[in-house]
Amino acid sequence: MSNFQIKGLANYKSTYQKSVDDPKAFWDAVAAENFVWQKKWDKTLSWDFEKPEVKWFEGAKLNITENCIDRHLETRGDKTAILFEPNDPNEKALHISYNELSDRVNRFANVLKSNGIAKGDRVCIYLPMIPELAVAVLACARIGAIHSVVFAGFSSTALATRINDSDCKMVITSDGSFRGDKTIDLKSIVDDALLDCPVVATVLVAKRIGSNIQMKDGRDKWLQPELDAASPICPPEVMDAEDPLFILYTSGSTGMPKGMVHTTAGYMVYTAYTFSNVFQYQEEDVYWCTADIGWITGHSYIVYGPLANGATTVMFEGTPSYPDCGRFWQIVEKHKVNQFYTAPTAIRALAKESLSNVSGHDLSSLKVLGTVGEPINEEAWHWYDEYIGKQNCPIVDTWWQTETGGILISPIPNATKTKPTYATLPLPGIQPALFDENGVELNGNNQEGRLCIKHPWPSMARTIWGNHNRYRETYFSAFPGTYFTGDGALRDEDGLYRITGRVDDVIIVSGHNLGTAPIEDAINEHLFVAESAIVGYPHEIKGSALYGYVTLKDTVGDMSEEELKTEINALIAKLIGPIAKLDKIQFTNGLPKTRSGKIMRRILRKIACGEMDNLGDISTLLNPEVVESIKESALV
Ligand code: PRX
Repeated sequence: MSNFQIKGLANYKSTYQKSVDDPKAFWDAVAAENFVWQKKWDKTLSWDFEKPEVKWFEGAKLNITENCIDRHLETRGDKTAILFEPNDPNEKALHISYNELSDRVNRFANVLKSNGIAKGDRVCIYLPMIPELAVAVLACARIGAIHSVVFAGFSSTALATRINDSDCKMVITSDGSFRGDKTIDLKSIVDDALLDCPVVATVLVAKRIGSNIQMKDGRDKWLQPELDAASPICPPEVMDAEDPLFILYTSGSTGMPKGMVHTTAGYMVYTAYTFSNVFQYQEEDVYWCTADIGWITGHSYIVYGPLANGATTVMFEGTPSYPDCGRFWQIVEKHKVNQFYTAPTAIRALAKESLSNVSGHDLSSLKVLGTVGEPINEEAWHWYDEYIGKQNCPIVDTWWQTETGGILISPIPNATKTKPTYATLPLPGIQPALFDENGVELNGNNQEGRLCIKHPWPSMARTIWGNHNRYRETYFSAFPGTYFTGDGALRDEDGLYRITGRVDDVIIVSGHNLGTAPIEDAINEHLFVAESAIVGYPHEIKGSALYGYVTLKDTVGDMSEEELKTEINALIAKLIGPIAKLDKIQFTNGLPKTRSGKIMRRILRKIACGEMDNLGDISTLLNPEVVESIKESALV
């Protein structure tokens, strides 16, 4: 691709400057030179952060799958597009070429059509990390259906909420999934969810574990016979630049998950451009991102970004610790992986294990290492650098969000320098700014504040499905005229950014965003619970862990505290998913509140972190006396 990759610091600086001086001209050139369009755009950008409304490449016609598949067939038809590594190391890896991917996606697209799915319809995908997941995503895009992938670790209640919020007509799932030495019965989770989802007419079921499942007459169909009967040719639907491509739910600090809506052209241009630059992908390379496609990292940097670049992208079904903690490194060696992208929580977990898990493997193919999802601590950064990268691979600490669609702040290998725990510099087109709590912009270096972005970039989410007002309130009201990320950051003396963490009520546990409100709502459903408050505290492996303060009603029957704790966690697992279970539960006589009745989480956070002597002024509380008793029985 021409003009696509940045090499050298001078090139970064001049490219960045151009992108800020004239963003339209910059993105015009990137989009024009590197993609296939059925019709070029009339207007590069129109935007208004008050409304808010952002449109990129208006008037353009395209289909993202032509860019991810069709255009590669002539030159890369036999090249591996998706390299599937199964959960069980004894099962053979699958090399799916671009030709074969084309065949699979076209057939699947025809199956969607023959089951009544048309452009604009929403399709929920609830699948494990098997090739059908990537194929289903692309098949939706082929016909202009809007995919909504739900991570297959979510519970039936969480799944139903997401299906109903966007009125999905179809669910694509499997008979089950392998995860380490366990199997998970996904189909029965779907069956439970669908008891409450009147709009779903069809469930397509991929066979993976071969279990004996219930198929509901008239609703459920096995996928494979449908694919076998379908034509391998499905002309791509003509999409407008701003037609929605997908919805992906992310936790908010309050209430319902937010269905972030990403649109077609801008998302394609930005994910492809950033993939190429941040990972410096070369034609023969094998790239592996260990995320699940149920999260934005998988959407942008397993599926769309790599495939738009004609890359070989690894999809791994299993876990880092099965059959042992050398599994990641065994896969790197086996497939000669060149770029490896994972989360700090995985690095911390593996760094705790014996080094013999690493030293037995040849990791010399590695060129670039990446991290994403949460701040990486110094120790983990150095372990990654020393034992995995052998101090010879730049670490790209990539900062971004479900909402941003692609990486916004990150080093670029061989162009910008790395610095432990720093995401460093904005990518071309990204204009970060720091603000203090009063909304005053903090200019110059050596500043710490709330991280905002001042100018639109092509892959930003355009709205929250069905709730534009919430989109405006959440992202564009705190610091008018800018996009507020919800993160705190500092800018050092050289202008490099370090993300310090969330400044709202979202807690990142093992790289997963969890809102405190939905967890509290789940706990409060328990018959014996009066109220609850969740805070995060530092955890060696998970980054943050969840500490719950729970006030019980007067009557709890004859249940012991241990039984209650078990029930509370079971309730959370049922209503949200096992990832949201609490690490610590403390029963309290009350929760500290302001005179207006607001729970003082700041105090609870400090107690959970063991900072008992540093609680500040508590005399203005409605009930200062509860603080003493909470301190006394704190679980620290
Ligand atoms: O707090 C930031 C953190 O993860 C949040 C976004 O989470 P999610 O939408 O699930 O997307 C994760 C994958 C892109 C951010 O608001 N975060 C993400 N990357 C980093 C990070 N925090 C520090 N450093 C990072 N590299």
